Amino acid sequence: MEGPVWSPPADDARTAAALEERFGTLAGGGPDGVWAAPGRVNVIGEHTDYNGGFALPMALPHRTYAAVRRRGDGLLRLASAQREDAWQGRVEDVLPHGVTGWPAYVAGVAAVLAERVGAGAVGMDVLVDGHVPVGAGLSSSAALSCSVAVALRDLVPELADLPVEDLVAACVRAENEVAGAATGGMDQTVSLRAVADHLLLLDARDFTVEPVAWTLPGHELLVVDTRAHHSLADGQYERRRRTCEAAAAALGLGSLRELSAEALEDRGVQALLSTVPDAPARVRHVVTENDRVLQLVAALGRRDAERVGALMTASHASLRDDYEVSCRELDVAVDAALEAGAEGARMTGGGFGGSAVALVRREDVPAVAAAVAAAFSRAGLAGPRFLEAAPGGPAGWVR
Ligand code: GLA
Repeated sequence: MEGPVWSPPADDARTAAALEERFGTLAGGGPDGVWAAPGRVNVIGEHTDYNGGFALPMALPHRTYAAVRRRGDGLLRLASAQREDAWQGRVEDVLPHGVTGWPAYVAGVAAVLAERVGAGAVGMDVLVDGHVPVGAGLSSSAALSCSVAVALRDLVPELADLPVEDLVAACVRAENEVAGAATGGMDQTVSLRAVADHLLLLDARDFTVEPVAWTLPGHELLVVDTRAHHSLADGQYERRRRTCEAAAAALGLGSLRELSAEALEDRGVQALLSTVPDAPARVRHVVTENDRVLQLVAALGRRDAERVGALMTASHASLRDDYEVSCRELDVAVDAALEAGAEGARMTGGGFGGSAVALVRREDVPAVAAAVAAAFSRAGLAGPRFLEAAPGGPAGWVR
C-alpha cells in the first residue's frame, strides 16, 4: 500500500534561477525580476466572504512565481512553465471576458490596472511557474493573479503607492470580470496581505484584516489535497452565492452578515427564508459559521486546541449537511483524520473536491497522514497529497 505522498513548497532561489533562465530562452534577455504570491488554506469561515462575514485564512509556503519584463507597447505575452498554451494579446482587448483559461488571471490584472495608468504602462512579458497545487482549493488562481499584481506595482512607477486594498480589489475584479469566477475576495486578500506566522482574520463587511497569532506550537495544520476535481467556474459556487443574496433580499438585509444567530431562530425570519429555495439550510450555515470564526479566534487566544479542533469539525458538518459543498473524498479525509486522532478537521476552500485541513498534534502528523492515505486506498480513491501548512508571508519580490 502506498504511504503518504508529500507536496513540499518550492525553494525560492532555485525556482527563481530556473525561471530566469527559461525566460531568457523564451523571450531573449532576462526579466526585470521574479515575484511570488502564496496560495492559502482557510482555517475556518467558509462561504462567508461573499456574505460580508468572517474568515480566518493563512498563506501557505507554497507559491506561484512570475518572471516579468515590462514592455512599452501595451502588448501582453504570457507563458507558463506548466503549460504549452502561451498567450499573446493587447491589454485593451482583455475586458470583459476576452480571455479564457489561466491567461485570464494574468491578463485580467493588467487590464484592470490599465484603467488607472493606461494600457501602454502595463504591457509585459510574463513567465509563470505555479507551485500551489492546481484545483486543490488552495487558491492557485489567486496566487497567479497576485504574483503579477505585485510585479506591476513594483515595476510601474504610477502604481508604486497603490494601497494594498486596491491591489486586492484589482485581482478580485480580474477573477470576477475576466476569468468569470464569482469569488468573494478572501483568497486575494490573504495572498497579498498575509503576515508570517499568523492567521488573518478577515472581516469581509469592509475587508479589514487583523493578524491572529498561531498559538498552538505543539500542533500543526495538515492539509490533505484529495486530488478530486475542483472548479469554481462550474456553477455550484455561483448558485450558492445567488441563494444567499436572494435570502438576504427576502429578509430586507444588505447581506447575511446582518443576521444574528438569535434572529435566525425567529419564526418570521424562517417563514421568509422558506420562500427562497434551499435558503433555510444555506443561511444557517453562514450565520453559524460566522459565529464559529469568532469563537475559534477566542479559543486560539486561550491556546485551547481542543476547542479549535471541535469548531473546525463543526464547520465541516455544517458545510456538508447545510451548505452541501462537501464530497465523498473530503468526507473520507475528514473522518479518517479524526479517527486517527486529529483534534479537528474540515474541508477548506470552495468545496466539491479540493482539500481538507486537520489540526493535528505534531507527533501525530505521520500517523494521521498514513491513516488518511490508507482510508483513501480502502475506499478505492486515488492517492491524496499532503502539505504541511506553516503560516507564510505575503506576495512580493523574490529577486
Ligand atoms: C473560494 C473563493 C473564496 C471563498 C471560498 C469559500 O475559495 O475564491 O472567495 O468564497 O471559495 O469560502
